[in-house]
Amino acid sequence: MDSIPANRRFWNKISRAYQHEHDPQIGATPRLWGMYAIPDAHLNALGDVKGKRVLELGCGAGQWSRSIAAEGANVVGLDLSEAQLTEAARAMGTARYPLVQGAAERLPFAAESFDVVFCDHGGLSWAPPHLAVPQAARVLRHGGRLVFNVASPWFEACYDEEARHVTTTLQRDYFGLHTVAEDQGAASYQLTYGGWIKVLRAAGLIIDDLIEPRPDAGTPNGYNKTDPPDWAHRWPAEMLWITHKP
Ligand SMILES: C[S@@+](CC[C@H](N)C(=O)[O-])C[C@H]1O[C@@H](n2cnc3c(N)ncnc32)[C@H](O)[C@@H]1O
Repeated sequence: MDSIPANRRFWNKISRAYQHEHDPQIGATPRLWGMYAIPDAHLNALGDVKGKRVLELGCGAGQWSRSIAAEGANVVGLDLSEAQLTEAARAMGTARYPLVQGAAERLPFAAESFDVVFCDHGGLSWAPPHLAVPQAARVLRHGGRLVFNVASPWFEACYDEEARHVTTTLQRDYFGLHTVAEDQGAASYQLTYGGWIKVLRAAGLIIDDLIEPRPDAGTPNGYNKTDPPDWAHRWPAEMLWITHKP
């Protein structure tokens, strides 16, 4: 299924409200990962990007790209939604960086153009991984790194669609994970642990680490209700893959 048109419409429609609600958390300080805004300084996932050619896949309003542009990275922010790119342009700091409209499934860049490709609930959550991962690998130079944060299969399998919160009960099949229906016909994607390993290896990437970001008890989830509130302190809500192209 081609989810590009529906995802573009969806993000164009919700962009303003999404940024109004979430930008204060995502952009509070530089380099914050995921639903619990865990500092990269605690996780050491992205590393030093000064002087490196970096692509953010699904940059949204560019909170990450803005931070690393200010550190001296040559970053490009790519996103499917023109409304999200408008927000990124509006929020750009003095360190300017290019914004490109495009889909993670069909990256408009030459092979081996980047030293680092990364995203935080971006293109690798909203494009089919079997299409987006090979594209990310293609545009990386040899030795370059693909680093990305996505929801964990635990989180998806325990998510109660009707109540719209995460529970301690399995709500859907683990092996049924793949396409997750979002509002208004949009789709996001989730693989099993084995599914991610297969897709990454098939794209020729080496897996260096799988970080399971663990918020302190009492850290609020800025996006989803969980029951109990400290769910993600007890079970992994996200997975942060660290890979490289040999
Ligand atoms: C949750 S936001 C991620 C951005 C930022 N890290 C954040 O947390 O807000 C998801 C972004 O992915 C973008 N997106 C959706 N489908 C995409 C695709 N196929 N290719 C690239 N970006 C896509 C959306 O427009 C949106 O800006």
